[in-house]
Amino acid sequence: MSLADLSPAELSALHEELTTRYEELKPAGLKLDLTRGKPSAEQLDLSNELLGLPGPDHTVDAAGVDVRNYGGLQGLQEIRQIFGDLLGIPADQLIAADNSSLSIMHDSLTFALLHGRPGGAPWARLQARGETIKVLCPTPGYDRHFMLSEALGFELIPVDLDVDGPDLDTIKKLAAEDPLIKAIWVVPTYANPNGAVYSSEVTRELVSMPTAADDFTILWDNAYAVHHLTDDEIKPVDVLGLAAEARHPDRVFVYASSSKITFAGAGVSFFGGSKTIIDWYLANLSKRTIGPDKINQLRHALFLKDADGVRALMRRHRAIIEPKFAAVEEILADRLGSYEVARWTEPQGGYFISLDVAEHTAAEVVRLAKEAGIALTPAGSAYPYGKDPADKNIRIAPTFPPLAQVRTAIDGLATCVLLAAVTRRLAQ
Ligand SMILES: Cc1ncc(COP(=O)(O)O)c(C=O)c1O
Repeated sequence: MSLADLSPAELSALHEELTTRYEELKPAGLKLDLTRGKPSAEQLDLSNELLGLPGPDHTVDAAGVDVRNYGGLQGLQEIRQIFGDLLGIPADQLIAADNSSLSIMHDSLTFALLHGRPGGAPWARLQARGETIKVLCPTPGYDRHFMLSEALGFELIPVDLDVDGPDLDTIKKLAAEDPLIKAIWVVPTYANPNGAVYSSEVTRELVSMPTAADDFTILWDNAYAVHHLTDDEIKPVDVLGLAAEARHPDRVFVYASSSKITFAGAGVSFFGGSKTIIDWYLANLSKRTIGPDKINQLRHALFLKDADGVRALMRRHRAIIEPKFAAVEEILADRLGSYEVARWTEPQGGYFISLDVAEHTAAEVVRLAKEAGIALTPAGSAYPYGKDPADKNIRIAPTFPPLAQVRTAIDGLATCVLLAAVTRRLAQ
C-alpha cells in the first residue's frame, strides 16, 4: 500500500517496525561499499592475459615502429582501428593515449582555455576580462565532469536529463542566447548515472542547433559505448558524421577508453573529432608528450584482436555484472515497490542505477546507511556543485562488491529509504 494512503497509526506502526529492522543492521558490522563504479576483481581477471603481453617477441607495431621508443603521438594504428570500428569513427580521426580519458577531457578543455579551439579565441581571455565561461550539465550526471569544469573556472548550468535524453528545448534556448555557454557534457550511451541513451534524433538536434558561441563544443564522453546489459546491443550514433552533415564538423570532442573493458587503471583512452580537431589536439599534445605508452597499446591490440574480440569480452563482463543489476532491481521492487516512495532506473547498460527517494530525504538515507555500514556516494553528487535541489537522488554502483554483498547492501538501503520517508511523513 502506498505510504500516502496509510493512516497516522499505520505510519507509526511501520516506523516502529522499520526502526527495529534498521537497528538490527548495526550489530551485523557491515562494511559494504556501493560508491564508485569500479569493475570487480572477477571482471579484471578476464583481462589477465594482458599481464603477459606483449612479451619480448613483440617490440614493433604493425607499421614497424619500435613501441619501446619515443614517438607515435597519435597512438598505434591497430588499436585505433579496433576502437574506431566500435565507436563508428575512422581510425585517422582517433587518437589513442594513455590510461585515462578523464585526462584527455582535462587536456582538451585546458587547451581550449589557454590556446583556443578551432573557431574560437582562448576561453581564458574571456575569463581575464571578468567573464564566466559556462557549461551545460545534463543532470543527474557524472560528478567528475562537474568537478573538472568547476576547477577550470566554468559555471555549471544544470539541465534535466531523462532516460531518453536531455531537455532539448532548454538546451537550444540557452545555447542560442548566451555566447559564454561554450560546451555541453554528454554521456551518450548508458549515461552515468541514469542510463540515458541519446538517440540519433536527439544527437542531430545537438549537432545542428544554432549556438551563440562559434566554438560551442559537445563533450561527447562515450565511456559506456559497448557496456551492454541486454541482448539489444545498441550501435553508437555516428555523431561526427551527423555533425559534418549539419555543417558543424568541428563541434564535437569524442572521448572513450578501455577502462571498463580491460583494466580500469591501465587501459587505453581515446580522443576523436574532425580532421581539424585532431590536428589541433595533436599540435597541442606535442608540447605535452613525445608519445603515449605504446607498449600498453600494443598489448591491448594483441589481446583484443578486433572489434568482435571486444564485444566477446564485454559479454563475459555482462555475465558477471548483470546478476548484480538484477538483484538491485528485484530487491528495490520487492521492498519499496508497493509504498510508492522511490523510483529507480533499470538501465540497459553501463555501470549505475539511479535511485530517486522521497524528496528531501536522500542525505538522510545516505547518513542512515553509513551508520549501518553501507557506504553510498554523497547525496547530490550527480548534480552540479553537489546540490540536488530536491535532495532525492542517490547513485548506486553495484559492479564492484560480490553479489551476496550487493544483495545485503540493497536490502539495508531499502530499509533506510523507507525509514527516512516514514520519519519525514510523520513529522509533516
Ligand atoms: C561517464 C564517465 N566518463 C569517464 C570515466 C572515467 O574514464 P577513464 O577511466 O577513461 O578516465 C567514468 C568513470 O566512471 C565515467 O563514468
